[in-house]
Amino acid sequence: MSRLIVVSNRVNPPTGAGEESVGGLAMALAAALRQYSGLWFGWSGKTTPSFTGVLDVQTIDGVTAAVIDLEEADVEEYYNGYANKTLWPLFHYRTDLTAYDRAYGAGYQRVNKRFAETLAPLIEPDDLIWVHDYHLIPLARELRALGIKNRIGFFLHVPWPAHQVFTTLPGHSRLAEAMFDYDVVGFQTAEYCQAFEEYVLSEASGEQPRPGQLQAFGRTLSVGAYPIGIDAPDFARMVKSPRARRMRNVMDACTVFRHLIVGVDRLDYSKGLEERFAGFERYLADNPDMRREVLMLQIAPVSRESVEAYQEIRGRLDGLSGRINGEFADIDWAPFRYVNRNYRRDELAGIYRAARVGLVTPLRDGMNLVAKEYVAAQDPDDPGVLILSRFAGAARQLDEALLVNPNSPEEIADALGRALTMGKPERIRRWRALFDNVEREDVTAWRDSFVDALAGVGTRRAALAG
Ligand code: ADP
Ligand code: F6P
Repeated sequence: MSRLIVVSNRVNPPTGAGEESVGGLAMALAAALRQYSGLWFGWSGKTTPSFTGVLDVQTIDGVTAAVIDLEEADVEEYYNGYANKTLWPLFHYRTDLTAYDRAYGAGYQRVNKRFAETLAPLIEPDDLIWVHDYHLIPLARELRALGIKNRIGFFLHVPWPAHQVFTTLPGHSRLAEAMFDYDVVGFQTAEYCQAFEEYVLSEASGEQPRPGQLQAFGRTLSVGAYPIGIDAPDFARMVKSPRARRMRNVMDACTVFRHLIVGVDRLDYSKGLEERFAGFERYLADNPDMRREVLMLQIAPVSRESVEAYQEIRGRLDGLSGRINGEFADIDWAPFRYVNRNYRRDELAGIYRAARVGLVTPLRDGMNLVAKEYVAAQDPDDPGVLILSRFAGAARQLDEALLVNPNSPEEIADALGRALTMGKPERIRRWRALFDNVEREDVTAWRDSFVDALAGVGTRRAALAG
């Protein structure tokens, strides 16, 4: 069987100590790597004064991780710069926050080249290579330049924007061309896949010989939608764990005679937190008789703190959360709890389980795994209600949630009213449909369908080269 090499900016293998602090994606990739006896390659998260390319290799719990340090200029121009000040805002439709700086573009190319040069000597002829996310779009091109002919796949975890938005990027054609050095490219939803196809057909004189295939820049590419899921069996096990039960009891004790509304997100402007806070504020204003009946808990660990847009939104959210409690709290009661720390996955499972409402309202999101985790954690006999943004990739699968426009605090407030008064039969009916999907289209299905597609491409490239 071929080895699988997974490449991602961050590498999070399980610790082996049962801590399970890593997310669902990391757990799934780790499982895939164990199955294919593979390698996980990426950035260590650390910096050195100058780039050395020295690999730190560790095998934990059957998963071999090989990581490299980057120099400070790399982190500034590649990670903070092109990845998180250019591509992230652009792909989430925030052209107002998108920075176009040639130094960032150069740093992005440089780091992708460094990744390729360090990885290439580790690659064996039969290896399948699976590259993840917007940080590494040009990686296949750099590997091909070094003579690597293996099958290489790419999965984009974030949205691919409409072509009118993508074309605002200086050098968009070069980035799109780099996608054609892969054999298979996967998107979270059919909508993102179509947006890419539309760009290729209208801006790159491409052709579509048949559905799922694109030709442009002298090459042929397989494209498709591969919606990512969570590790549903693992999450079901975690919900029953002692830690999850303890956390649930803690939450129950905080909400005696009250309903818990929960939000869990990285502190990111794409997550719609300001509008969500305003929606809750609106709900409290419109429903004075419910004020003592609800508690909203927003968990939002800080993220990408070196990027100004993240510092700014953090400041605004601190102000908004203070305003809501200032306006509505009483000496013996406060409606809103806002915490900026990380929790273990089993603790999160207990928090989700205790919540009558899961409030997941990103302005744009490639998929959103929190929505799926919330569904997986519910009590089948008395489930809570998921309120979900129609602009999250997950809305394509989870259409029995209460779908809202996340830009509208009024819609969020109305959905809260509906969720908090929804009878048990309707909650159970909706939850069953949601849970069926979360269970069926889980992370194993995602991983297997992508790896099968990649393996099925055969040795087309070798044949072409021959
Ligand atoms: P994104 O990839 O943009 O951060 P997702 O919703 O797809 O958004 O995935 C976020 C993952 O991070 C989920 O698995 C979620 O459980 C986890 N997560 C989010 N907030 C926390 C937190 N405070 N503590 C621990 N894990 C968290
Ligand atoms: O889902 C998008 C994503 O950028 C992932 O690639 C990444 O693991 C996660 O969000 C967290 O972002 P970061 O690695 O920048 O902390």
